[in-house]
Amino acid sequence: MGNNYSKKTSIIKSVAEPSCLTPFDSFKVPFVALQEATNNFDKSLVIGLGAFAKVYKGVLCDGTKVALKRYRPGSKQYCAEILKEIEMLSQFRHPYFVSFIGYCDENNDMILIYEYMENGNLRSHLYGSDLPSMSWEQRLEICIGAARGLHYLHTSGVIHRDVKSTNILLDVNFVPKITDFGLSKKGPDIDQTHVSTAVKGTYGYLDPEYFGRQQLTEKSDVYSFGVVLCEVVCARLALDLSLPGDQAIITKWAMKWLKKGKLEQIIDPNLVGKIRPDSLKKFGETAEKCLADYGVDRPSMNEVLWNLEYALHLQEPVI
Ligand SMILES: Nc1ncnc2c1ncn2[C@@H]1O[C@H](COP(=O)(O)OP(=O)(O)OP(=O)(O)O)[C@@H](O)[C@H]1O
Ligand SMILES: [Mg+2]
Repeated sequence: MGNNYSKKTSIIKSVAEPSCLTPFDSFKVPFVALQEATNNFDKSLVIGLGAFAKVYKGVLCDGTKVALKRYRPGSKQYCAEILKEIEMLSQFRHPYFVSFIGYCDENNDMILIYEYMENGNLRSHLYGSDLPSMSWEQRLEICIGAARGLHYLHTSGVIHRDVKSTNILLDVNFVPKITDFGLSKKGPDIDQTHVSTAVKGTYGYLDPEYFGRQQLTEKSDVYSFGVVLCEVVCARLALDLSLPGDQAIITKWAMKWLKKGKLEQIIDPNLVGKIRPDSLKKFGETAEKCLADYGVDRPSMNEVLWNLEYALHLQEPVI
């Protein structure tokens, strides 16, 4: 079994090129190999819980560390999203995208296999856990990497549609990688301004224009990324209904202070005194532009990337 599976992984590697047309069968991994990889889905190996799936850490027989996303029974109704995820990740490879290793569709089980990201999701390093606080520079580097990944996706004509801090994962060196492409959608054709489509995504991150008019553009991702930027600097949930009044929605709260030019009043207490004012200003302006009400007023991901790099430059010590 072990040897057979090693052969299988090498087959997977050899066909996993962006130009492959119908490769999905070659990505199939037998259920028994995943049972072996996870000590029969041992509870102690659960590393994440999503709305539709449990995520396990596993080690394949060739020693590769993997994350296995096992969908809850009955999740086949999300088949279209699972197929989209396989289609996207098997075609698009990028240093800032999580690598797709394979999938298993046996015994009523649907499992997707990804490269294992040692440092989990970005959110857990910002709030809601005991993990050490990240420096401003480290947060900027992560935002820059994620922006680069999204810029690449947009230049490939694809909109992610579920950009959020739990869909930005961090590898052993805290390099960010975007995941969960199941909702992604081909962008508008050259002669169109938007794609008309049902609203999908996550509350707290949804572009108000897309939400209100079902008109999706790549600027919808830019808006969601603006929400992530707010989480990064304020270290709080995008939507926190336990907070009073205008504090509950991060975008409303952050915009209120951004418009006054006083973002420093609501930043993560761990960052107080550690961000150079110019760097915070540049970052705040960038977030504000991403959160503009109308997509046409928002920057492209390339402009966001450039601005974040500049914010990092402004943080660097002057020699
Ligand atoms: N490749 C991976 N490596 C390490 N951890 C992962 C990996 N993929 C997912 N996880 C962990 O599992 C968690 C659950 O992932 P999942 O995508 O199912 O849900 P989510 O993105 O957190 O939320 P939602 O279901 O609302 O979209 C992630 O937040 C992350 O912490
Ligand atoms: Mg996710």
